Amino acid sequence: MSTARSTPNIALIKYWGNRNDKLRLCANNNVAMTLNTPSVDVTVEHADTLSVTSKNKEMTDRDIARFENTLQLIKNYLSTLPNPNPNPIPNSLSVEIDSAIPSAIGLASSSAVFSAFAKAISGLVDADLTDEQISIMARLGSGSAARSIFGGYGAIRIGDGESIDSAVGFQVADENHWKLHDIVIAPSLEEKKVGSTEGHAGAWSSPDYEQRVKDINEHRFDECVSALENKDFEKLQAVAETDAMNMHHCMQTQDPPLQYLNDETYRILDELKALREAEHLPVFYTMDGGPTVHLFCEDSAREAIAAFAHSQEGCKVFEASVGPGAHLV
Ligand code: DP6
Repeated sequence: MSTARSTPNIALIKYWGNRNDKLRLCANNNVAMTLNTPSVDVTVEHADTLSVTSKNKEMTDRDIARFENTLQLIKNYLSTLPNPNPNPIPNSLSVEIDSAIPSAIGLASSSAVFSAFAKAISGLVDADLTDEQISIMARLGSGSAARSIFGGYGAIRIGDGESIDSAVGFQVADENHWKLHDIVIAPSLEEKKVGSTEGHAGAWSSPDYEQRVKDINEHRFDECVSALENKDFEKLQAVAETDAMNMHHCMQTQDPPLQYLNDETYRILDELKALREAEHLPVFYTMDGGPTVHLFCEDSAREAIAAFAHSQEGCKVFEASVGPGAHLV
């Protein structure tokens, strides 16, 4: 039996769209901060047939099919590794999920769940798998999960070709490098109508998507990595806000269009910009596949941004900082 704990990560250069949807081979390089909370524990054990249970939610047939598919892809990947594993690749697994992610805050849990799933499998089959190899296993369940394998600031480099291991996660900097916070403001949430897996498949239909991929792969990703390495907050703010708004523009212009941001999102952003200008606060915003606003800030702005967040009527607030990434427990 093997248990791993992991957390979500929030992208600064977003992953949107694939060159191969089935293998989740991302079209663009992407980089994120791994959060220190909320966490998910996933326990796996060898079994003859797959079973997936969660302490916190009813697993649908679709959820279970996703685990089945991910496990098959992970087995395919493990069988390509040159050194045979000391322990056999599992025939199948019993999987138990225990999540502390509150459902009302709009934090996608798939990055936490599939990074914990991959890490837990690594504990079952081979202690010597590298984090890069485990990131490939995580990516097969959810693209963004590859980044939560790493503490601090994790990235995915898209690589070349169509092989299962061509897009690999890596660590840009560990959690002690730069202590940033993510103050999460969730306007009242409706159930998402289109999930990211379905959304990625339509990415190429936006007339502006190809330019997005080019901009990121030619310079924006490198700019973001260098801002992180140099702890250059202003540069990080510029590149992360540009990228988030560009992703949402592409989502809104793909066919069928995806509108994840709502009036509340735009209202919060306007108020934040006014506050930032008036008080010169080191803070920037980013949004994923929903109306939830993530406010990244340095220590010096944390109190003011938390107060701003808690003053938003009818919104749920959640506070996190940079975290350690997936680990066995
Ligand atoms: C908008 O990793 O959730 O949050 O592989 O289908 O699970 P799947 O997609 P997912 O896509 C993330 C989309 C995003 C941007 C990001 O986190 O980079």
